[in-house]
Amino acid sequence: MKKPNSLERSSEASEGSLPKDLLNRFPLFADMLARAERRIPKRIAGYFLGGADSEKGLAENVAAFQRIRLMPRYGVDVVNRSTKIDLFGRSYAAPIGVAPVGYTSAIWPGAEKALSTAAQKANLPFITSTYAIEPLEAIATYAPDVTWFQLYYIQSMETTLDLVRRAEKAGIKVLVVTVDIPTYSKRTRDHRNGLEFPPAVTASLLWEAAQRPAWSAEFLQRPYPLAGNLMPYAKNPMGGAKAMRDLFAVTGVYAMTWDEIATVRKAWPGKMVLKGVQHPDDAEAALRAGADGVIVSNHGGRQLDAAPASVDALPAIAERVGARMTVMLDSGVRSGLDVVKAMVRGAQCCFAGRPFVAACAAAGNRGAPYAMQLFQDEIDTAFGQLGICGVHEAIGDRGREFH
Ligand code: FNR
Ligand code: LAC
Repeated sequence: MKKPNSLERSSEASEGSLPKDLLNRFPLFADMLARAERRIPKRIAGYFLGGADSEKGLAENVAAFQRIRLMPRYGVDVVNRSTKIDLFGRSYAAPIGVAPVGYTSAIWPGAEKALSTAAQKANLPFITSTYAIEPLEAIATYAPDVTWFQLYYIQSMETTLDLVRRAEKAGIKVLVVTVDIPTYSKRTRDHRNGLEFPPAVTASLLWEAAQRPAWSAEFLQRPYPLAGNLMPYAKNPMGGAKAMRDLFAVTGVYAMTWDEIATVRKAWPGKMVLKGVQHPDDAEAALRAGADGVIVSNHGGRQLDAAPASVDALPAIAERVGARMTVMLDSGVRSGLDVVKAMVRGAQCCFAGRPFVAACAAAGNRGAPYAMQLFQDEIDTAFGQLGICGVHEAIGDRGREFH
């Protein structure tokens, strides 16, 4: 058999090579995160990059991945490897998707459109948040095949179920119910920076924005960013930022009980995923409530500071329910190699929050497609090193981990 050279590899993931200029500037997601921090106004960057309390949980998510070592395997014909993954009856290009990040287009103006459009093109899952700036109907137009909708309880069960109906009407097939905000945690940086939601236009915010000209130029081209999904429920939708603040005052934060989740299940004809599950008993309860999958997640270290790193919580959940439902993960994923580490511990797919949004902030228009290509390329490269030709050779194969 003729050995194809690296440019002819048939893997879908490596189609087209990574743009050299971006690869040289941002070889790692860490490079994009560092650049993003310098391009986003200080208090917004604090909200985006920060975590709860001491932020030890935030750091631990990344540290736990770094502690995992994988044993390489050579001599395997990996020429025809593929990173494709089937999730809920649909094939995606690779086991990596965009986690729901509230206010994404306020963090980097235009990022929701950029990321959802790029996800559609790359054929990767894109989860749009209840607190997105652009309404789910718009996102479903940018990314008709790959949009999942993340649901928070809003205002009342009636309003919450209205969001569910809207998602169905928009043609969305996967509903992601986030269970880990029964209380909103103390976000240390937000207190130190005096962040309000939505940010009040004060002299100090304008000063911070003035120091971030690229952000300001993007910001000024667009309407004031408000939570687009929720505007229909605001008493005075024309009331702008104040109306949004009033809406949040009514809503507060709340995570649904198992009974309420079962009610959502009845109202939703598609697949349902619970996000934020960390205890195997809760994964079991998710199954009983009719969930088709879980995302093992600690909300990127933003909720319970003392929670385990999600990649450390993962194995017990995969062992308990992995054969009966789709187990996925987010929190701390900073490379394609991390994705493969989570797969070895039983995840069928991973999601990243901050890395994707940071890519938009760091690299502008080309950031979203670059981030997707970078993740896929890193997964593909890791597969080659591990002698893996397809995702099923990786998922749950604990023996690949070196202890
Ligand atoms: C989030 N996350 C989140 N999750 C969710 O279900 N709904 C939401 O609206 C938000 N909003 C949000 C805003 C910001 C700024 C961040 C950073 C995160 C959590 C998110 O979906 C995911 O769990 C984490 O971001 C994963 O961690 P990494 O990849 O950021 O380390
Ligand atoms: C957060 C909420 C929006 O993490 O989920 O900030």
